[in-house]
Amino acid sequence: MTSILVVSGSVRPNSANSKVLPVVVQMLEAKGVSVTVADLAVINLPFYNDPLPTSAPEFAPTNEAVSAWTKLVDMADGVVLVTPEYNHTMSPVQLNAIDWIGKEWEDKPVALIGYGWRSGAGQAHATAREALAVNLKAKVGDDQANLFFMKDLNPDGTVADEAAVTSKLEAALTELLEATDVSA
Ligand SMILES: Cc1cc2nc3c(=O)[nH]c(=O)nc-3n(C[C@H](O)[C@H](O)[C@H](O)COP(=O)(O)O)c2cc1C
Repeated sequence: MTSILVVSGSVRPNSANSKVLPVVVQMLEAKGVSVTVADLAVINLPFYNDPLPTSAPEFAPTNEAVSAWTKLVDMADGVVLVTPEYNHTMSPVQLNAIDWIGKEWEDKPVALIGYGWRSGAGQAHATAREALAVNLKAKVGDDQANLFFMKDLNPDGTVADEAAVTSKLEAALTELLEATDVSA
């Protein structure tokens, strides 16, 4: 069975993330996929503090949380990032999680799902794509799901327009599963 890792993007209490992420999980499970949630509030990664970059051949982190997080990404057939837009970029907690991993991102299918106000998650997605697709050589899907508050979502993250949200998520998740060579 295909395994997909769904990664949270907020560690705030009552975050919109905590409402959007379960919708993503539900859609994946309905497609017969095995889903693991990486809750970054629970994993609690340190801010990047290794003397070496992940690109160094000798890079070998000893931190347990980093090792557990690396294993989750390595074992997954594909990864979904659920990303809020903070100050015209992605949330720092999620970018820090990306930074901790090097070669495990290579050729990893990734779907971007994000939300925000005026441009939705447009700028968050741009940062995620630059880091993951351009620098780390992950296979980031073209169909990023860009969800807008007051149209697609209510400000607390609950779904406002079910048809629109379903259609945007469907496009991103279908592309992800195709990239993992799964017929779902
Ligand atoms: C530090 C911070 C910066 C933010 N900057 C933006 C922004 O640049 N664009 C935007 O659309 N929303 C911005 N917002 C509003 C968030 O999109 C909104 O608060 C959302 O609920 C955050 O996601 P979360 O609840 O999952 O943490 C910002 C929120 C925070 C906390």
